[in-house]
Amino acid sequence: MTGIDILATGSYTPPLTITNDDLTKCVETNDEWIRTRTGISCRRMTNGEPTWYIGTMAAKAALEKSGTSPDEIDMIIGTTVSGDYHTPSMAAIVGREIGAVGCPAFDISAACSGFVYGMDMAHKYLSCGMKKILIVSAERLSAITNFEDRSSCILFADGAAAAVVAPSDKFFTSYLGCDGMGMRYLYAKKTMRTHPFMDDPVAIEDYTLPDDPYDVLIQDGKEVYKFATKALPNTVLAALEGTGRTVDDIDLIIPHQANIRIIETAAKHLGVGMDKFFTNIDHCGNTSSASIPNALDEAWSKGIVHPGMTICFTGFGAGLTQGAIVMDI
Ligand SMILES: CC(C)(COP(=O)(O)OP(=O)(O)OC[C@H]1O[C@@H](n2cnc3c(N)ncnc32)[C@H](O)[C@@H]1OP(=O)(O)O)[C@@H](O)C(=O)NCCC(=O)NCCS
Repeated sequence: MTGIDILATGSYTPPLTITNDDLTKCVETNDEWIRTRTGISCRRMTNGEPTWYIGTMAAKAALEKSGTSPDEIDMIIGTTVSGDYHTPSMAAIVGREIGAVGCPAFDISAACSGFVYGMDMAHKYLSCGMKKILIVSAERLSAITNFEDRSSCILFADGAAAAVVAPSDKFFTSYLGCDGMGMRYLYAKKTMRTHPFMDDPVAIEDYTLPDDPYDVLIQDGKEVYKFATKALPNTVLAALEGTGRTVDDIDLIIPHQANIRIIETAAKHLGVGMDKFFTNIDHCGNTSSASIPNALDEAWSKGIVHPGMTICFTGFGAGLTQGAIVMDI
């Protein structure tokens, strides 16, 4: 075995459509600014459904499309930064809901690179003999968005998608990376309780600002933009390095749907046209780790992705994490 077969994907579309005009009720902004700076016209948000629930709905769709019964699943890899519980993992709850009880289940916290990290990990376990792995990427970013911050609340959205993957002898290459020095540019601090014995608490510098609000995403948009426009082309080239293949061999790139301007600038750096990219950010917004599999599911259902193609996934986000996969499907 050298590669991965994506047997099927599935997704869940949250019920609320939030337009740019709707956001003007929360912050001083306008449709034209949001469209031209981000490429987003509207996004989807949950109406109270937990992250594990939207992940489960996506997982059930992927299982059904692939004709996989829950007892065939050897491992569940969840990816989320907006899980409902400190513990257990979202993947554990999804396992309960779909009836895949007994197999290992855990979440990866790699932000918007989560699906790429998950695929890479699935590849490793499939190489060791596993037969079918379920990757579930679900995000309820609306629960950790500061709707008083106009520079970030216009970007984030909710969504979920899943993939059932199996071993294959097709081409597969990957690259993963992370630079913790950049963590200060995109993060959400957790509220942690104090305990009754705390006396003169120790202040440890962690490079975030002490006055930042807790439990919401904080972003330095310009720094993230600079990082992302480099990360996208660099990860693709790093994944291809030493394989004998080039960008020209890739039929379609499905990038993390962060911002259309990031993708357009990165495309120029990579020396390819926008026709090599699939994007759905205009109606989905940025759904962190769910964005790549969600875009894949849409491209697949529209016949844009089909067997025989070489596709590339590239992700980048908080951490700062980054990664890419190039694979034949
Ligand atoms: C967030 C982002 C869209 C902001 O765009 P930008 O061109 O850098 O905008 P700036 O922050 O320079 O702000 C320009 C002006 O627009 C204003 N502005 C910011 N958000 C606004 C909004 N939603 N509506 C209207 N005006 C806004 C700013 O206040 C500023 O006004 P000023 O010039 O009077 O001070 C851009 O930095 C970006 O896309 N960054 C990457 C974010 C991302 O993709 N994150 C997820 C990665 S996984």
